[in-house]
Amino acid sequence: MAGVLDKLITPMVEDKNTLPTSKITIVGVGQVGMACCISILQQDLCDEMALVDILEDRLRGEMMDLLHGSVFLKTPKIVADKDYSVTANSRIVIVTGGVRQQEGESRLNLIQRNLNVFKCIIPQVVKYSPNCILLVVSNPVDILTYVTWKLSGLPKHRVIGSGCNLDSARFRYLMAEKLGVHPSSCHGFVLGEHGDSSVPVWSGVNVAGVSLQTLNPELGTDKDSENWKAVHKMVVESAYEVIKLKGYTNWAIGLSVADLTESIVKNLSRVHPISTMVKGMYGIESEVFLSLPCVLNAKGITGVINQKLKDEEIAQLRKSANTLWSIQKDLKDL
Ligand SMILES: *[C@@H]1O[C@H](CO)[C@@H](O)[C@H](O)[C@H]1NC(C)=O
Repeated sequence: MAGVLDKLITPMVEDKNTLPTSKITIVGVGQVGMACCISILQQDLCDEMALVDILEDRLRGEMMDLLHGSVFLKTPKIVADKDYSVTANSRIVIVTGGVRQQEGESRLNLIQRNLNVFKCIIPQVVKYSPNCILLVVSNPVDILTYVTWKLSGLPKHRVIGSGCNLDSARFRYLMAEKLGVHPSSCHGFVLGEHGDSSVPVWSGVNVAGVSLQTLNPELGTDKDSENWKAVHKMVVESAYEVIKLKGYTNWAIGLSVADLTESIVKNLSRVHPISTMVKGMYGIESEVFLSLPCVLNAKGITGVINQKLKDEEIAQLRKSANTLWSIQKDLKDL
């Protein structure tokens, strides 16, 4: 006897399983992973979302909670499992997993522990999605992007770190507050190492092509009576402040990762300050990842914009490169 479904629908075509075309996987369903997830879902950027974590209850809870919102979303498939087979055929894999720094723990020790976590994650990801673009968000992001590149065996244009994308977004927001202009019209790049050692490129800061440094030649220097330097200082300090206030940061990084995802999924070739392999650029001779303005589209990073940097800015990039390499060279089992 025919059931409700058969009575309701006259089939026109056999409903075979077809492969997703814009599947996105998020590894790690913590605060950052879920902020990336909801930002991507709300922008309708994928036809399938897969979540992976080792915490099975948390994972199932997050998946069910999202599925209960299906009426309000336009992503037909949301799946989750601790087994990486659930991630198969992903176009983009966003890595937010990893362990956090414990009190008194050295940077090297933290990185070594995260390397061991990544050794479980990355080979599994590549096994099921050999053609994916890997987007690393976990910190310290520049080193973990290098680790991911090594472990994945993928070409460098397909291994990306979120890097200074968030630092630059914070910079533009703070600049906007000073000028009363929307952040999307305030242009400026923060480059280099994500976090404390990032480099603001003052010569490029502009609104509608009007260089702020031309209007105020002391912009960004200690002599500047308007103290624009404080804008970058606040960029560096703001992460610590948010963590102090709410325990972690997640919304801004989630939104910024969704923005990168959009450039890839829609093949936009927009320029973002993201972490890429910089050996051979600005006199850097080691295999390190730092943020430079990168052209990002469906292939991954297809090019790097050659910005004319000042000698002291280049010196800062090289210093970061040396610091990163001094850590990377001592990593065991990579
Ligand atoms: C993506 O954009 C690039 C640059 O505009 C273009 O050459 C390429 O054909 C596009 N790829 C797809 C899949 O549309």
